[in-house]
Amino acid sequence: MRSAEITGWGKCMPPNVLSNHDLEQLVDTSDEWITTRTGIKERRISHVEASELAAVAGLRALAAAGKSPEDVDLLLVATCSGDSIIPSTASVVQKHMQAWNAAAMDLNAACSGFVYGLVVGTNMIRGGTHQTVLLVGTEKLHHLMDFTDRNTCVLFGDGAGAVVLEATDGEIGLLASDLGMDGSVGHILEVPVDGTMGDRGELNPRHCGITMEGQEVFKRAVTKMGESAARSLEKAGIALEDVALLIPHQANVRIIDATARRLGLDEGKVYVNIHSYGNTSAATIPVALTEALEEGRISAGDIVLFAAFGGGLTWGSAVYRWGARTEPLDESDAELPPPDRDTMELLRPNFDFFGLPEKLS
Ligand SMILES: CC(C)(COP(=O)(O)OP(=O)(O)OC[C@H]1O[C@@H](n2cnc3c(N)ncnc32)[C@H](O)[C@@H]1OP(=O)(O)O)[C@@H](O)C(=O)NCCC(=O)NCCS
Repeated sequence: MRSAEITGWGKCMPPNVLSNHDLEQLVDTSDEWITTRTGIKERRISHVEASELAAVAGLRALAAAGKSPEDVDLLLVATCSGDSIIPSTASVVQKHMQAWNAAAMDLNAACSGFVYGLVVGTNMIRGGTHQTVLLVGTEKLHHLMDFTDRNTCVLFGDGAGAVVLEATDGEIGLLASDLGMDGSVGHILEVPVDGTMGDRGELNPRHCGITMEGQEVFKRAVTKMGESAARSLEKAGIALEDVALLIPHQANVRIIDATARRLGLDEGKVYVNIHSYGNTSAATIPVALTEALEEGRISAGDIVLFAAFGGGLTWGSAVYRWGARTEPLDESDAELPPPDRDTMELLRPNFDFFGLPEKLS
């Protein structure tokens, strides 16, 4: 049966780092609190827009697949912190990459965006309308981070990851998936403004940042991610012991641990890199996948399980059988321009808009 295989992978993490110790200088928090409650040690703050991160990650993924931008016939950009509403971020990414043969669209399923995109991209290829799909997860979440709110500003970061999906007749690729949404609790994780419900007359900074009922999100994340992953495994007819690696959305290491425990999966089979980047929403899974491959954690024929949850509230999981190749075919020389400001300077517009963090006021 015609399927879709991941033939290329890449990431683009902006160089500026915001460590837990830096955050200690801004808000009433500590490295110890953040590490024990979330597993995060540092995150990246981007000096460019989400589209530029996406283009570099995309070019690296294409090189790994031995493809060029003109080969792409569908560009899917999973993001919830894109450059603008119109044009879509996908439009800007197409321009940066000069992927002129690609249809292109954004896909907003928040932190589940990559898993949603994997299912959409695979099914476009299976349906026969597209041959080569570039799927990118990209975020510039620091734009939405309010550094007067210690409950949220320690959790998120910026970055991008990408994969190339190509048509194949092999018994590989997506074996089964499960996507879901519970809109009745959408309000427990939100950024209300920038849609039509925003009050243009009185723009209230409180409505422009990420707000969240942390414990509610936590509980639902563990339940939904675990249930979804179990459903996908059952649909695929794959036993838990046959899973080589779980690559979960990286929101909180305690959520990841609890999900793995719920499934009954050994912690050695779970990929975690949240300590380096925090929660980069739609980018966490493609970045983690790229690093897992670079570290030799995936072998030919392995069963890889993806699981995510996010704003909406969305969730999704996918059981994927890896193909023969785990090495890139080529390397791209695509790079971001170097930053011209340090991390604190990049955060200055947030402080001006949301208010000064308590330790600076
Ligand atoms: C946000 C989260 C880390 C908080 O952890 P928690 O164990 O639930 O912590 P609580 O909310 O119970 O807060 C405990 C205390 O820590 C305080 N606190 C919150 N943020 C803090 C910070 N950055 N530093 C120090 N203390 C902090 C709270 O004010 C609270 O103090 P109080 O007991 O005096 O009221 C956790 O709920 C979480 O990860 N939720 C899911 C978030 C998420 O993943 N969102 C994205 C989804 S894609």
